[in-house]
Amino acid sequence: MSDEVGWVTVAQRAALAEGEVLGVEIGDQSIALYNVDGEIYATDNICTHAFAMLSDGWLDGDCIECPLHAGRFEVRTGKALGPPVEEDIKTFPVRLVGDDIQVKAG
Ligand code: FES
Repeated sequence: MSDEVGWVTVAQRAALAEGEVLGVEIGDQSIALYNVDGEIYATDNICTHAFAMLSDGWLDGDCIECPLHAGRFEVRTGKALGPPVEEDIKTFPVRLVGDDIQVKAG
């Protein structure tokens, strides 16, 4: 499969300021985008602990804190950073094409 297959434009670069998190949808999949020091990252938006949207949480450096029970994930790797979250969160490749933020979610 070509590397060009599967990329979806999910937002404009201007919609995601530095230090912010934004929830987007690809089909029925909810994805959180993060701007960490100008670099964009993407993870699943649904916390692995229970049902909460990480895009409603707080981005602190490169860690997202879940709004429901304050579980934390490292957004570059998806690594769960301790209780109550035990399961890492899925990450997705991100690229910028002009002003478009594209995610490969397949
Ligand atoms: S739902 Fe995210 S920490 Fe519990």
